[in-house]
Amino acid sequence: MDRFALGSAMLELVQGDITRSDTTAVANAANSMLVGGGGVDGAIHRAAGPELQQALLRLKRELPGGVLATGRAVMTPGFGLRARYVIHCVGPIYDREGDAAPALLASCYTAAVTLCREHGVESVTFPSISTGVFGYPALEAAPVALRALGEALTGDCPRLVRFALFDEPTLEAYREAARAITGPAE
Ligand code: APR
Repeated sequence: MDRFALGSAMLELVQGDITRSDTTAVANAANSMLVGGGGVDGAIHRAAGPELQQALLRLKRELPGGVLATGRAVMTPGFGLRARYVIHCVGPIYDREGDAAPALLASCYTAAVTLCREHGVESVTFPSISTGVFGYPALEAAPVALRALGEALTGDCPRLVRFALFDEPTLEAYREAARAITGPAE
């Protein structure tokens, strides 16, 4: 595990399955329709159970047009997950968003930190949002994600931000970005 100081929090980088993470919240790489998909979304829905989709359907009714805009985040209970909450983030589709992609990706992380602060969530695990199906190169996404978090992490919550990265190249991309932004690991 790699650990770095990032803003007011501790950043941990681990390789593994986000559904196994024991932080208070886990973030989901969701889609605008908030209907489970593959990748992280599929894994989180499988681990949380069917109540998660029911909670999202109820939540969708409160959203304009029944969709969650790219760059936004909403929170539900974690149900069958170890985590108490799931923060559903809609990352940018790299080829579709073009020059707007970095700001939209950064917005996912900022919105998730705001939800953690509002709900007193002390620890959260993120996946590498948008770097799978949504096609965002991990080497470009990692510095955007960590810079956004570094700016957003200014208060007491969350104190711990973990990334559960599914493969070695993605872990290495975040390691490289963390070293560049924060200096050597702790
Ligand atoms: N734990 C941690 N990371 C995972 C897991 C897991 N269980 N499963 C996949 N990943 C990794 C992928 O390898 C990739 O590095 O998460 C990163 C994000 O990949 P995706 O899950 O494809 O997410 P994203 O690129 O944001 O695309 C979102 O995919 O599943 C659909 O409904 C989802 O439409 C949405 C889109």
